Amino acid sequence: MKPTSVLTMLLEVTDLDVRYGRNHAVKSLSLSLPLNAIVTVLGANGAGKSSLLKAIMGIVPATSGSIRFDGQDITGSTVPQRTRGGLVLVPEGRQILTSLTVHENLLMGAYPRKHFDHRETDAIYDRFANLAQRRDMQASVLSGGEQQMLAIGRALLAKPRLMMLDEPSLGLSPLLVNQLFTLLGDLNHEGLTLLLVEQNTHMALKVAQYGYVLELGKVSLEGTPDQLQDDDQLQAAYLGG
Ligand SMILES: Nc1ncnc2c1ncn2[C@@H]1O[C@H](COP(=O)(O)OP(=O)(O)O)[C@@H](O)[C@H]1O
Ligand SMILES: [Mg+2]
Repeated sequence: MKPTSVLTMLLEVTDLDVRYGRNHAVKSLSLSLPLNAIVTVLGANGAGKSSLLKAIMGIVPATSGSIRFDGQDITGSTVPQRTRGGLVLVPEGRQILTSLTVHENLLMGAYPRKHFDHRETDAIYDRFANLAQRRDMQASVLSGGEQQMLAIGRALLAKPRLMMLDEPSLGLSPLLVNQLFTLLGDLNHEGLTLLLVEQNTHMALKVAQYGYVLELGKVSLEGTPDQLQDDDQLQAAYLGG
């Protein structure tokens, strides 16, 4: 029998490289994500965080290395295949289509699925009352916080097992940041595994069980929130210590 301390890994990234021509954005990066965990990826602008998430999602190709999800090698899979497998990305800047209605934006999350019951949107509107009230309005009327909720609602309609979020708290007021992190904690309790890229190091380390710090495409530091908070370099760089 396996010892209980052995965690089931939902996602395993091994020696991942992402290059854009001469620009080497992600360098031999390895990361693992236990089932039902919240893991955070921290780092300055340009460190390679978005490139990492895009490569996991299949939006940019892995130049080398491998990505395993739920025990399967998905390195060569397309985005829709990965979505159907249970991966979803809430992108940087939300990427809401402001010329469409809230409801139309929401439905886009279900697009890659083969079977979808339209009543599934009810659960999203139950969770986000502001979206329910604005369901048939153009998404351009939404505040930044509501757009982020829409982006998360849209991602939930893909029925993910792993949700990746790229700087979801960016541009939100402190109150909305708190609401967002409460929501992330709730989703995790409901069984969703989360990979969270954040610049809000303080909040990310509060909610995550493990963190990676990227510098120039490489993991410069990793550990539990306690370990990371005790690190002098991280303190100086990100925690204002
Ligand atoms: N589409 C692209 N083409 C060329 N270079 C890119 C592209 N996207 C990102 N980069 C570069 O890759 C590096 C990492 O960027 P990115 O992954 O966006 O970092 P982060 O999300 O941590 O700010 C940066 O040097 C950035 O300029
Ligand atoms: Mg980014």
